[in-house]
Amino acid sequence: MATALEIQPMIDYRHLVQDGRLHGSLYTSPQIFADEMEQIFHRGWSFVAHDSELPNAGDFVVRRVGTQSLIAIRSKDGEVHVFYNRCPHRGATLCQTSSGHRSRITCPYHAWTFALDGRLIGLPDEAAYPADFSKADAGLTPVARMDSYGGFIFVNLIPNELTLREHLGHATELIDALLGLSPTGRIQLSAGWMKHKMRSNWKMIVENQVDGYHAPMVHGSLIAANRTFATVRDRKPTSPTRVRDFGMGHSDIDHASDYRAAGDRLFRWTGGIDPERLPVYVKAMNDAYGPEDARRRLIEGPPHSMLFPNLSLAEMNIMVIEPVSPQHSIQYTIPVFLEGADDLNARTLRRCEGAMGPAGMLIADDAEIGELTQMGVVNLEPEWILLSRGMGKEEVLANGVKLAGLMDETSQRGFWSHYREVMAGSQEVSQ
Ligand code: FES
Ligand SMILES: [Fe+2]
Repeated sequence: MATALEIQPMIDYRHLVQDGRLHGSLYTSPQIFADEMEQIFHRGWSFVAHDSELPNAGDFVVRRVGTQSLIAIRSKDGEVHVFYNRCPHRGATLCQTSSGHRSRITCPYHAWTFALDGRLIGLPDEAAYPADFSKADAGLTPVARMDSYGGFIFVNLIPNELTLREHLGHATELIDALLGLSPTGRIQLSAGWMKHKMRSNWKMIVENQVDGYHAPMVHGSLIAANRTFATVRDRKPTSPTRVRDFGMGHSDIDHASDYRAAGDRLFRWTGGIDPERLPVYVKAMNDAYGPEDARRRLIEGPPHSMLFPNLSLAEMNIMVIEPVSPQHSIQYTIPVFLEGADDLNARTLRRCEGAMGPAGMLIADDAEIGELTQMGVVNLEPEWILLSRGMGKEEVLANGVKLAGLMDETSQRGFWSHYREVMAGSQEVSQ
């Protein structure tokens, strides 16, 4: 992919991102935002779509990665392709809807027509082109690299040196944990995405996704109004829940550590429902994994995690963060349906609507505090944001994963230390 030819003064990211504090301009600067689009979203791996969103040949979704509009589409041989949403003739946008089904892709401008695998298969009055014009050279442009893990499809637009597996690192455990709640090991993202426009910088949403400090305050009204929500988790500073920094900017809030410590009750992760009310799912899990392992999975539940830079496995929701400008983002949310668990899926859909829907009680709180924080950091003083809670007290495992208390800012520091390496490291390489 071509890169923007602009000469800008160098930004010192090692100064702006320090171990226990951040400079406020990281959330407001247009130049920093432009750097992030290229260094993080174009040169790194980003989530683009899930395999289950494209069940049939011709199914497509349109997604934005960094500044780029991409089409993910399944061709007749079953392969998923990711193309730039740009006609190779004179540049028109090819797909204008966020998802759909096509037997071929026809450009709205001059009707050049492409097969699902990107080949140019027809154009009006082809004979008018010079003799050396070749349809074989005028197909859709695929992204430089794409790869998937557990059905999650990622793209890398400007090739870097990392494989997807190297980028994901220990975070593959989080994807495995989610898939392992399905008796078949597969999930379906088929319910449709909810789209929230957030008046905050994309990194605030990332930070908030793995922030164990804010819930009693920001979600206080929900906790007060909903007895189940209030009782299934220990949200006190002494909670056994750990936050984890997995490296490579990935982190989570490991609620399983709380659920295990609280005893052997199943389904605390879905409101503590009585297992007898989910007979289809419980039987399928027992059949698939055996009673003991199934029981462990149903106690521990799904991950609550943030995978650098734009994908959150948010328990029984998937959340994707799309940066729009330094102060605007879009947050997409979809419930996770587990293959072979129809009774649980019906419940998951209702819970997703209640928490994340247009009148949802959870996301509205987070959207509001994000907006208030964005409005706050526009003020020039105090210059720095503090991020030192729990710093230096982490337990470091042999594999490098850091563990800390629920209310420590270890997960955010994990994001920012990787951010600093990506943003500053790229400059040092190019100097
Ligand atoms: S711009 Fe697409 S056919 Fe002309
Ligand atoms: Fe929240």
